[in-house]
Amino acid sequence: MISKRTIDLVFETARVEEVIGEFVQLKKSGSNFKGLSPFSEERTPSFMVSPAKQIWKDFSSGKGGNVLSFLMEHEHFSYPEAIRFLAKKYNIEIEETVESPEQQLQNNERESLFVVSEFANQYFQEILFKHPKGVAIGLSYFKERGYREEIIQKFQLGYCLDEWDAFTKEALSKTYELDYLDKTGLTIVKDGKQFDRFKGRVLFPIHSMSGRVLGFGGRTLSADKNIAKYVNSPESEIYHKSQILYGIFHAKKEIVKEDNCYLVEGYTDVISLHQAGIENVVASSGTALTPEQIRLIRRLTNNITVLFDGDAAGIKAAIRGVDLILEEGMNVRVLTFPDGDDPDSFSKKTSSEELKEYLKQNSKDFINYKVSLLLEDAKNDPVKKAALIRDIVGSIAKIPDNIQREIYVQECAHLMHISEEVLFNELAQLHKKELKELHGVQFVEQKSFKVLKAPTAEETQETYLQFLEREIIRLLLLHGNTKLDFIDWIDAHDENGKYQPKEIVNQNTVFEEIYLQLQADEIEFTHELFRAIYDEIIKLFQQFETINSDALVNHSELEIAKEVTNILMEDEKYIIGDWKKRDILIKAKDDQNEVVKSVTDCILNLRRNLVNQKITELKNQFSQNEENNNESLDLIMKYKGLEMLLSDKLGREV
Ligand code: CTP
Ligand code: MN
Repeated sequence: MISKRTIDLVFETARVEEVIGEFVQLKKSGSNFKGLSPFSEERTPSFMVSPAKQIWKDFSSGKGGNVLSFLMEHEHFSYPEAIRFLAKKYNIEIEETVESPEQQLQNNERESLFVVSEFANQYFQEILFKHPKGVAIGLSYFKERGYREEIIQKFQLGYCLDEWDAFTKEALSKTYELDYLDKTGLTIVKDGKQFDRFKGRVLFPIHSMSGRVLGFGGRTLSADKNIAKYVNSPESEIYHKSQILYGIFHAKKEIVKEDNCYLVEGYTDVISLHQAGIENVVASSGTALTPEQIRLIRRLTNNITVLFDGDAAGIKAAIRGVDLILEEGMNVRVLTFPDGDDPDSFSKKTSSEELKEYLKQNSKDFINYKVSLLLEDAKNDPVKKAALIRDIVGSIAKIPDNIQREIYVQECAHLMHISEEVLFNELAQLHKKELKELHGVQFVEQKSFKVLKAPTAEETQETYLQFLEREIIRLLLLHGNTKLDFIDWIDAHDENGKYQPKEIVNQNTVFEEIYLQLQADEIEFTHELFRAIYDEIIKLFQQFETINSDALVNHSELEIAKEVTNILMEDEKYIIGDWKKRDILIKAKDDQNEVVKSVTDCILNLRRNLVNQKITELKNQFSQNEENNNESLDLIMKYKGLEMLLSDKLGREV
């Protein structure tokens, strides 16, 4: 593990404008820098970097954060990879914390497996290009398939000689340990003898997201049906089939840029599409996608287009796998090729332009595609049609987003000539059944599954609360340390004995005011992220007695860092507007009175919400429980009074 000291030093040293400047052309603009968004295609710059705050914001994609999150977004580094990158750039020596002996062993072992795999990768490439047999057999095979040399090099394709242990011997002579050759599966050890696993095969190295070799796929050159077409690396500490996507390293930039990922079946499909100029493509290596693989893609885009081979059986099988992608909340489109073609063979029959056009013109929304495909079968057969409805609804039910689900229901109802009601009912049935299976109980009442067009009262309340919570965070970040005069009320009665609370002035920092007031009512944030940020702010304050937003911008929880950056950068939006329009749009900086009013409003509104909640709770109790009715009624009246008081305070100018 990289030590905390190194991480701190990296943060102190790295300049966000210098680092981003390596990837994006930045121009000075006032106290900031601006440039074209590296995350989308645009002509007017909406990407900005603030050297003062050491943060960046891309207004076209909504992304933003600190120097580390830029590297993670743009280069798809992991956290430690980004730290290492920066340390290298700034010549900072990396100090590793001491690991337990087991940890060390495990890390050393993983590292050794990586090293052996990279050696093998270099070796197989060298054989392919330099060894007479490699050239005559391996290289000529690839060339016959129409692969250009630059693409062979880009994908680091290789060849393993058709001898029992040519590779193993070479590796051992270079003092690589047999144990690691065995564990990566490069060598098969049996009865004290050693064989090359990939003997006589051309090799496709499989890279991780960051480009390290994890394993290989080896294709036979023989047409013999009894020989497995592909032999792949076995599971090991570094090769987990279910978490790997072939081509992801070479595709990641383009996936982000195109905001779409093509999914194909095989190694050769990926390479052929690349050669045709389509680089946002990965392969599932012949199996249905796993959730881990889908999440790998989702780090880059929410859109996936599955390219199916042309034969009908294949399509039906592949369709089943797609539900899993829907379940992960991704938008799925599908595309089929003419009968008998796969992306590899089809790309060889068309020009690169035609292929691109074909992909663009022929991709269909998955649910619609499924409906039209299955509808063919079920046309005049009511039994089949009922099964079809259940099948489609099964897919729709996988979609996590309510609104999207409703849109699909409408579209499918239209396509299948049935009423939306039927589909919604089916959906509700399915939902009930799932709940029952999940929890082993029958749910008594299941509200109609239909999504309401207008938000319900509850939803409005929820979004309103979140708005208040976010506003509190904003006030804390921007003004948390400012000392201001806050007005408070203490209980008092006038000379006639009438309740008349008295105003007093408290000199507090914004943080103290918010913290004390919320604490007094034990108000908890409802929104998970805002609550997390709020907790962090409290921690900071307890530690340093001041709020330093840098610590939050650089927070190791990316979500926190991102949201804090967003809030801080909202100010800067107005400067962006300035670039675009030229006429200067100045947002009045919150002046002191505004801040006091905002803080007070937020607190009072949160309190009012709490009171309302109490009233509702009490009312429920009231109707259920006759014994304590008098007591409850009393409390309700008290709370009602409180609510009126709060509303009254909210109505007045502070
Ligand atoms: N596959 C495998 N083992 C096999 C067959 C296939 O691991 N015995 C995986 C490979 O990842 C392969 C993918 O499934 O790339 C798709 O299989 P297939 O279409 O048969 O292979 P292609 O890669 O298309 O190879 P080619 O174009 O040479 O037929
Ligand atoms: Mn294929």
